[in-house]
Amino acid sequence: MTQPVAYRAAMLYSLGDPVRVGLDNSFVWHEDGILVVADGHVQDVGPAPEVLERLPAGTRVVTLENRLITPGFIDTHIHFPQTEMIASYGDQLLDWLNNYTFPEERKFADRTHASRVAGLFLDELLRNGTTTAMVFGTVHKQAVDAFFAESDRRNTRMIAGKVMMDRHAPEFLLDTPASSYADSRELIERWHNKGRQLYAVTPRFAPTSTAEQLAVAGRLMREYDDLYMQTHLSENRQEIEWVKALFPEQKGYLDVYDHFGLLGERSVFAHAVHLEQEESERMGATDSVISHCPTSNLFLGSGLFDLPAAERHRIRVGLGTDVGAGTSFSMLQTINEAYKIQQLQQHKLHPMKAFYLATLGGAEALRLDDRLGNLLPGKEADFLVLDLAATPLMSARIQNAQTLYEKLFVLMMLGDDRAIAETYVYGECRHRRDHPQAQ
Ligand code: GUN
Ligand code: ZN
Repeated sequence: MTQPVAYRAAMLYSLGDPVRVGLDNSFVWHEDGILVVADGHVQDVGPAPEVLERLPAGTRVVTLENRLITPGFIDTHIHFPQTEMIASYGDQLLDWLNNYTFPEERKFADRTHASRVAGLFLDELLRNGTTTAMVFGTVHKQAVDAFFAESDRRNTRMIAGKVMMDRHAPEFLLDTPASSYADSRELIERWHNKGRQLYAVTPRFAPTSTAEQLAVAGRLMREYDDLYMQTHLSENRQEIEWVKALFPEQKGYLDVYDHFGLLGERSVFAHAVHLEQEESERMGATDSVISHCPTSNLFLGSGLFDLPAAERHRIRVGLGTDVGAGTSFSMLQTINEAYKIQQLQQHKLHPMKAFYLATLGGAEALRLDDRLGNLLPGKEADFLVLDLAATPLMSARIQNAQTLYEKLFVLMMLGDDRAIAETYVYGECRHRRDHPQAQ
């Protein structure tokens, strides 16, 4: 075993969904805690006086004054090739795809370009405290290969996949059912479970795949028992009408994916803003997952996600930024917008529920909660050192906050990348806000 290191600071992590286990049972808080890390894993955690007593002799203790340690954030839906087109003006989904997204994704035919953007993207995630993400590539297998290589170099746990798209996009971005099968298989064989990398079969969305290609996606899911599937679902009303016209024999949008065997416990559907009651029931019954993407839904004017309805149907939900339709890499800013979306529907998003969604909830959504999501011993040591006084305003407001919940809420409303003092990946510091040159 490598020499353990003990980090001493305030500490917060989730134990479960507050809505299911009750608020009081849903988290662990140590005003003065210690987290012991070795070999990329959490070895011990608890109140400082208790952990100090059992700490192996000679363990180095790093004391972090005025800092809060939390698990790394988990982003359940994001597009790495859209990094440099974030903040593109004016359109809703279908025009936004045609006018901005497809031309940008064309550039990823070039592996050198893909490698550079993948590096920028991963570093930006780490600057924002996100240590795991479920990531769309483009249709180009070399771009996804480059992404995995960059992630592997940083040892980040990422789930990613090559987009499958064989119609309704420019010719230069189309594959075929046969080539998408061969390319996906090649990437699966090379990267799935290699180090910390995981593969997701990635049909872009129903309108850009023929029935033949969706059948190929289903076939891949059957051929391997632990692959992920990621796609988009019921984001925009025009999109939904288009799907109904393209697949008239299916009951609705979700039923298209269902028909091709794409629902299940490792299937993540981004958005799901306009689900019918029957679709929510089917999502719950198949244990399929929703990635809720607040900044994207507001930016593209897509609609307001109904979180309580998902809870009623016992659908697992994670949070996603959906960059580049999303407007921030920060999960704190994503929570900020998630809160407002629930406010508009007369529902209160409790700060501890929001924190759960960004950490353990994301891990549960991705079936990675045996390895990620909180700081319990045995988990992989992906964690953050947060600065709750990152700006003069945050500092003043935090001092004026009484309870833990209030402080957490202030962090979520005012915080962003400036609140991320350090990001640790598998026990190694991969981002340090104040000494970037020391990395
Ligand atoms: N639906 C199909 N493709 C996309 C995409 O790239 N972004 C979003 N937000 N929705 C999509
Ligand atoms: Zn998306």
